[in-house]
Amino acid sequence: MQSALQNFPADLPMSMTIAAARHPGGPEMLTLMERPRPSAAAGELLLKIRSAGVNRADCLQRMGQYPVPAGATDIIGLECAGEVIEVGAGVQGWHVGDRACALLIGGGYAEYVNVPAGQCLPVPIGLDWDEAASLMETCCTVWSNVIMRAALEPGETLLIHGGSSGIGVTALQIFSALGHRVFTTAGSEEKCSACLGLGAELAINYRDQDFVEHVLMATNGRGVDVILDMVGGDYMPRNLKALAEDGRLVGIAATRGREVNVDLMDAYRRRLTITGSALRRQPIAEKARIVESVRQHVWPLIESGRFKAVVHSVYPLAEAAAAHQLMESSMHIGKIVLRVA
Ligand SMILES: NC(=O)c1ccc[n+]([C@@H]2O[C@H](COP(=O)([O-])OP(=O)(O)OC[C@H]3O[C@@H](n4cnc5c(N)ncnc54)[C@H](OP(=O)(O)O)[C@@H]3O)[C@@H](O)[C@H]2O)c1
Repeated sequence: MQSALQNFPADLPMSMTIAAARHPGGPEMLTLMERPRPSAAAGELLLKIRSAGVNRADCLQRMGQYPVPAGATDIIGLECAGEVIEVGAGVQGWHVGDRACALLIGGGYAEYVNVPAGQCLPVPIGLDWDEAASLMETCCTVWSNVIMRAALEPGETLLIHGGSSGIGVTALQIFSALGHRVFTTAGSEEKCSACLGLGAELAINYRDQDFVEHVLMATNGRGVDVILDMVGGDYMPRNLKALAEDGRLVGIAATRGREVNVDLMDAYRRRLTITGSALRRQPIAEKARIVESVRQHVWPLIESGRFKAVVHSVYPLAEAAAAHQLMESSMHIGKIVLRVA
């Protein structure tokens, strides 16, 4: 049992560089600044960050539209990869110098971050820092929603909206590797063709095709068992039409609107379930449960090469503004990463 704090190196700097916005606003608000360096409390690791993943929620936070959960750091960044520098009291199984991927409540756009040890996994064999940094937020979101919440069963079918997003490229690969028939939507022919290459059986360009019609055609009128949605709004009644009897809709965002108009009696008659979740706000123990399930079920897919990190672009931390501009342009396919050290 590890009881004492392991600390390396002894001469850690007292401050660190972060990328942050002094005031809410556009991507150009992101600049480098200095902050005190955190340290590892009991149950935590301190990581020296090598790379950090960029997620859509980071843009919302920069604009002041994503309130930071109570008690969390206000530094942007929900995932990273780096070396363990300190091991907090009571932590077992981690050592100074280990390479870790971390799911963060915040703090990724920085040189150092403290994180509960249960939210860390070893960097999968063969991955570089940029690839390792791109995994935790999407793997945990996708796995916890599609499997732990919507209970996708072997042999069932899945529709993933936004197949070219960071979330989408993750879900497409995981569930096609596990043998599911997977359908997806994306906003251009180039994105649709990338989705087909990542395991989608059918990629529907939502700008000129009706996904309900195409999903029903592909399933002989039955519909899909599970939908992973990030759109909401007017997609909601259409999602319900695309679900099979006993189907489950699991939502992670509502970019086209939170308030919806659906036929509840149709949902009841066909025994549909509507659910969803927000990963960042979940308790530490629940995040650890999700991370452990990802370690058991998703990490082997990565280490056997059946799921590959899809890193579209890498920017130095000093160019976080350009990374956010790219994300907001929606020209990317897969993940955007910041290289910190
Ligand atoms: N609840 C949670 O715990 C949780 C966790 C992580 C992420 N999320 C959410 O999941 C979403 C994806 O996150 P990300 O970081 O992967 O972002 P991202 O890479 O920027 O992806 C956003 C995607 O939304 C797609 N999209 C927009 N309108 C669409 C529509 N009408 N139909 C289908 N796709 C559409 C865009 O595709 P086109 O450019 O082709 O339109 C783009 O690929 C975000 O909304 C994020 O906030 C939620």
